[in-house]
Amino acid sequence: MTVLDPHRTRPTGRHATPAAPARSPRTRSYVMCRPTEFTVEYAINPWMDPSRPVDRARAMRQWEGLVATYRSLGHRVEEVDPLPGQPDMVFAANGALVVGEVAYGSQFRFPERTAEAAAFATWWRDRGVDVVPASHPAEGEGDFLVLGHVVLAGTGFRTSLAAHVEAATVIDRPFVTLELVDPLFYHLDVALGVLDDGRGDAPADIAYYPGAFSAHSRRTLRELFPDALLVGRDEALTLGLNLVSDGRHVVLPHDASALAARLTHRGYEPVPVELSEFRTSGGSVKCCTMEHHA
Ligand code: ARG
Repeated sequence: MTVLDPHRTRPTGRHATPAAPARSPRTRSYVMCRPTEFTVEYAINPWMDPSRPVDRARAMRQWEGLVATYRSLGHRVEEVDPLPGQPDMVFAANGALVVGEVAYGSQFRFPERTAEAAAFATWWRDRGVDVVPASHPAEGEGDFLVLGHVVLAGTGFRTSLAAHVEAATVIDRPFVTLELVDPLFYHLDVALGVLDDGRGDAPADIAYYPGAFSAHSRRTLRELFPDALLVGRDEALTLGLNLVSDGRHVVLPHDASALAARLTHRGYEPVPVELSEFRTSGGSVKCCTMEHHA
């Protein structure tokens, strides 16, 4: 028999299988924005092609499927009203970084999305959260991924380095800067997925595509997460890393079937959802989901 030590998940011998710790879910609070306004009418990342039509009815069904999935897993979902003429507001993850009663607001990199920041800030202020506005480009959870002990912070395309310093002061946790180098992986949350935030009994666990990061950031990730799940380019291009996990159930795009199989092996329960319409805008599960971190 094998003795499982949750803090050592690497194989110890040639034939040893990595021991997956028990995966326990924790109930989450999510904020989402109905895709009433969703289209691809400009291109601010290489996935977007304004000449290709979006099937909005299909997008709506897919989005409602994601909401139903979260609710069936016991999570709370609240809605922010979409602003007229803001097609990307469905990507609610970008609206702010919210931890407890404090939020670091967003300042969108491109003028096409500027108006969204105030709408999200007002929504949170109305619920008693102290929203500190960003004075540098910052795109919320698109580039800030919250773990128990640190916040992983992406830069290179959208969120500025100065925002990492500012957000760290607001959120009062250590931030780890990670540099993104591939325009297809323009936000951290399309290059790296948090499988377990490490706030429960199991250690923090992530999956990422190394090719999206600079050599130095790859080294940083290896150092901090030696047991991370490494994902290849093809898997990453399904937007499979744009996942949302509650520590046990990992909601991820349907196309990411290879990644789903590897997650099962690691002790997680993959929950595939169809979000193909949003992929044409460069987004998937995580992009549509802002979490209110405890
Ligand atoms: N079309 C949107 C943009 O380029 C997609 C945002 C995706 N959001 C995310 N959290 N990665 O801004």
